[in-house]
Amino acid sequence: MSPHTTNGVSINEDAENTYFQTNPSPKALTKHQALALEFIQYHLENAPDRRIVLVTSGGTTVPLENQTVRFIDNFSAGTRGATSAEYFLQEGYAVIFLHRQFSLLPYSRHYSHSTNCFLDFMEESEDGERVVVRKEYQEKMRRVLQQYQYAKNNRLLLLLPFTTVIEYMFELRSLATLMQPIGSRALFYLAAAVSDFFIPRDRMEEHKIQSREGRGGSGRQLVINLDPVPKFLSNLVHSWAPKGSMIVSFKLETDPSLLVSKAEQALDRYQHDLVIGNMLMTRKWEVVFISRDGGERWIRVPKTRRSKSFSGIEALVGKAERKPDSEPVDLEGG
Ligand code: PMT
Repeated sequence: MSPHTTNGVSINEDAENTYFQTNPSPKALTKHQALALEFIQYHLENAPDRRIVLVTSGGTTVPLENQTVRFIDNFSAGTRGATSAEYFLQEGYAVIFLHRQFSLLPYSRHYSHSTNCFLDFMEESEDGERVVVRKEYQEKMRRVLQQYQYAKNNRLLLLLPFTTVIEYMFELRSLATLMQPIGSRALFYLAAAVSDFFIPRDRMEEHKIQSREGRGGSGRQLVINLDPVPKFLSNLVHSWAPKGSMIVSFKLETDPSLLVSKAEQALDRYQHDLVIGNMLMTRKWEVVFISRDGGERWIRVPKTRRSKSFSGIEALVGKAERKPDSEPVDLEGG
């Protein structure tokens, strides 16, 4: 079957069928589907007006062996996704947080991967009978704890982990399909850094590749032959996701001359709602919004506030400083 076209956009059903039939579905998929279904039904029944966002976060891996010892990784600590999830929760959304296992999580991110060991936030009480939070951290920790407990007690946050790019794709397709009943109150916020290349299951080594044997190169060189990961964003937009839902993708580049054109290309190709572009070196302080109304809008955190991490969602909810459209990047000028 050749690609079929919806609203002038091609959806490659062949690629989708081949990918999902020839690669193994993740072991945790059935359990994740049950948890997601329960979460969605709970909110549909108890808060029918509530918006539900799927935030994807962290980088996918590409294993080189089925019993994996080595893998290729994609850059992402999960800061964007975890921080954005907190802002979505603050704005009243319920959040499905599809994240790379052990990457940053909403709320715990303030302590888990910090330069301090988490034990540095604590000390023994004066009488030596208890362990307490050090005085200088108490105010912030109380605030974070209250927000975390609110989200937890109200079942507003569902954490679902992935590791490999294959797991990510299965989870994304299944969650988008389960979100169908949410309709236009569904939002997709795709901040994960998804590998563009992978090794299909039928070409993957079962056991640890031995350094003495060599693979495809001369002598003991290891030559890796990767296939492209099919671009499923159009399938997500035009087939998996509920009609009328909002879809936001991210574009990461390292060459500033490519960022805007690549983000525009993605919007044009997939026909979704918004591409948020960011540069590797400046992603914490500035992003560019490329939307269908033809606008290119840069959002920058002023230099004086750059110690705080910036998710980009502040801009979606109107809390970041807005600078005039198309203003050139000027980190030094602040
Ligand atoms: O986590 P941090 O350290 O804070 O870093 C955040 C970030 C820089 C990783 C994040 O802000 C970001 O830019 N994420 C997207 C990285 C990127 O450019 O991905 P991409 O070009 O491979 O994909 C673009 C979009 O399509 C993404 O939304 C991705 O989730 C999606 N995609 C990609 C490939 C694919 N086969 N299918 C997809 O759906």
